[in-house]
Amino acid sequence: MQYDVKDLNLASEGVKRIEWADNNMPVLAEIRKRFEKELPIKGRKMAACLHITAETANLARTLKAGGADLVLCASNPLSTQDDVAAGLVKKYEIPVYAIKGEDNKTYYEHIHACVKHDPIVTMDDGADLVSLLHTDYPEKCPNIYASMEETTTGVIRLKAMDRDKALKLPVFSVNDAQTKYLFDNRYGTGQSTVDGIIRATDILLAGKKVVIAGYGWCGRGVAMRMKGMGANVIITEVDHIKALEAAMDGYNVMPMAEAAPIGDLFVTLTGNRDVIRKEHFEKMKDGAIVANSGHFNVEIDIPALEKLAVEKMTQVRNFVDGYKLSTGKSIFLLGEGRLINLAAAEGHPASVMDMSFATQALTTEFALKEKLNPGVYYVPKEIEEYISHLKLKTMGIEIDILTPEQEKYLSSWDVGT
Ligand SMILES: NC(=O)c1ccc[n+]([C@@H]2O[C@H](COP(=O)([O-])OP(=O)(O)OC[C@H]3O[C@@H](n4cnc5c(N)ncnc54)[C@H](O)[C@@H]3O)[C@@H](O)[C@H]2O)c1
Repeated sequence: MQYDVKDLNLASEGVKRIEWADNNMPVLAEIRKRFEKELPIKGRKMAACLHITAETANLARTLKAGGADLVLCASNPLSTQDDVAAGLVKKYEIPVYAIKGEDNKTYYEHIHACVKHDPIVTMDDGADLVSLLHTDYPEKCPNIYASMEETTTGVIRLKAMDRDKALKLPVFSVNDAQTKYLFDNRYGTGQSTVDGIIRATDILLAGKKVVIAGYGWCGRGVAMRMKGMGANVIITEVDHIKALEAAMDGYNVMPMAEAAPIGDLFVTLTGNRDVIRKEHFEKMKDGAIVANSGHFNVEIDIPALEKLAVEKMTQVRNFVDGYKLSTGKSIFLLGEGRLINLAAAEGHPASVMDMSFATQALTTEFALKEKLNPGVYYVPKEIEEYISHLKLKTMGIEIDILTPEQEKYLSSWDVGT
């Protein structure tokens, strides 16, 4: 078996973490049990470019249990858990190409290694694998039954490709499933972003002015949790409706130019670029901390910060770089501007990834039933219903059932008004 991980001796630690996460992934475990019996994806070649975490390991185990011939690589150079990667190779015999902190060249070599596996189903978190397929291996695209996309930024890229008629294979937007974005983006990013910032800085959030750029699903989650920790939250937005929602949720809303001199901590979650840039850094307070939890490291204009700085203080703590400006003020950047929840913490808790990855596993099974034309597709409603029903059951929560009269009332226009 070929693979490239940091150190196989880390495997036992990784296996412990995989098993611990599995305790909180009951929906995926249920699917794995059925997959073991039915082998619905037997012999199907798959390549997954995902954050190599304990939760992803349990998705990989599930796909393997279903019979898939699977290889994995990282979807971000800083998000790999090296012990988990080792555990996947050594105990579960799943080839992994991922090393935390790998340079750009190795990162792409690893994705190339996955493409060379000749997958007929691919998974992405940010569309890097699918992009490489289109640029370097277009001849392989017609073989792909489907590609699953896990995150908002990836879906935006793929929809743009589809609009320009450049998309050469069918893609399922797993991110757009309610069982994904309502929980993973909001509660997962909400908790793990706060976790990453605290682990990197150990700052007290109570009483801090925290500026959150973007009030989408992720921004809402982080804002909610920061508020819960006693921070004064300021939201910046470019969308009127989202800004209005933030204002009515009780937050201060203002442009970044106004927030820049006020904030103690800045967190970007927009999926956009240059959200914090030169003119904002220039106005920031001494000691301001900037972090990103959006997919790519382009939300903070790091080249502009590097240019402004007269001195760089590398790794003043793990995952913290300081930049001294000519004014004498310092700005601290966390995790090199990459997703802070994965760089400095462990990503989303398993319980929420249970739903995202159950959606991935069942959509893979569904996608292999029929070859579709190139385009962006949505996860079937039945999959969302199955997962939400099972998740509630595993949480010991029951809900009401419509009476026949209620069902009739809700489906007619001439009854009971
Ligand atoms: N850290 C993680 O683990 C994690 C998890 C899920 C998604 N993501 C990523 O987080 C990002 C946001 O995802 P989402 O699901 O919240 O997306 P979303 O589309 O729901 O929200 C993004 C918001 O940012 C706003 N925005 C865009 N440009 C802006 C700007 N210049 N200034 C202020 N606001 C701006 C948009 O109007 C929108 O409301 C994406 O890159 C996504 O891939 C990260």
